[in-house]
Amino acid sequence: MSEMRIRPRQVLILIIVFLVILLIVHRNGKHTCQGPEFLQAIYARDNEKSLPKIYAITPTYTRPSQKAELTRLSHIFMLLSNLHWVIIEDANTTTPVVRNLLRQAGLSERSTHLNIKTPVGYKLKNKDPNWLKPRGVEQRNLALNWIRTNVNPEQRSVIFFMDDDNSYSVELFVEMMKIEPGRVGVWPVGLVGGLMVEKPILNEDNTHVIGFNAAWRPERPFPIDMAAFAISTDLLFKYPQAQFAYEVERGYQESEILRHITTREKLQPLANNCRDVLVWHTRTEKTNLVSEVKLNKEGKRSDEGMEV
Ligand code: UGA
Ligand code: MN
Repeated sequence: MSEMRIRPRQVLILIIVFLVILLIVHRNGKHTCQGPEFLQAIYARDNEKSLPKIYAITPTYTRPSQKAELTRLSHIFMLLSNLHWVIIEDANTTTPVVRNLLRQAGLSERSTHLNIKTPVGYKLKNKDPNWLKPRGVEQRNLALNWIRTNVNPEQRSVIFFMDDDNSYSVELFVEMMKIEPGRVGVWPVGLVGGLMVEKPILNEDNTHVIGFNAAWRPERPFPIDMAAFAISTDLLFKYPQAQFAYEVERGYQESEILRHITTREKLQPLANNCRDVLVWHTRTEKTNLVSEVKLNKEGKRSDEGMEV
């Protein structure tokens, strides 16, 4: 009968494998506890007070998925203390859904909750409610007014138009903090304009924007999405006429505000020389409520006494 023998070499290999596993587990643990490197870097470099404030401007309207969308966004605010949320409801009053959400996320102090309804007459002019109506015009203009009256022009800050249904990386906001006074920062946006990514094209030295790859209406002065840029707030004070307008053609809202305050040459490329995608123009599908409608006809509802 042959005897089972463990050779020293096998023991050594086992020990090495064990040590490697231990090392991997240890390193991963460290990463989860301390957060990603880009966050560690900003908090190590600056103390929180010296970070530029970012005013994120979000128009929003009541629909079944609203709370889900806003909850997703609220987590970014929990990670970055220098973000202020200007949230404007497309409604005649502010609603408890949004109010509760801000309170429960601990954002009451770091948010401004406003409301203004898109004029009904305007909505009627356009037949296709999904596309043709410019969304968020009235709401973003109200937010711009609020910023012009409430933000200290001397304090370094940035404004960003943050739609409620897109997907944002926290890293995008870290990039915005690099925007220089008097400039507009730009970066790629994923899943928009019929492309995987719409992006600015840079010169050889990566210092300037010399064009854009947009396929949809590339003739626009700034053929980019609302999520593709953020503005140093001093420009809002310098150009008080800069705002959004109903009269402009579909897809021209971004160009409408930017044409007042900057030129293509002055844009500041960010996100690893416009090579990283840190925001995606996702759109939530319309919620299917066929069974809910049937319930409602029987005088019942699945969310009785609940906020969904
Ligand atoms: C694209 C751009 O990403 C928007 O920034 C731009 O406002 C819009 O086109 C446009 O020019 O009409 P899209 O996904 O088509 O976005 O628009 P939505 O996400 O439906 O709306 C943009 C924002 O306006 C959202 O935050 C949404 O909650 C809000 N909105 C939408 C209202 O406040 N009221 C509405 O009736 C519809
Ligand atoms: Mn959207």
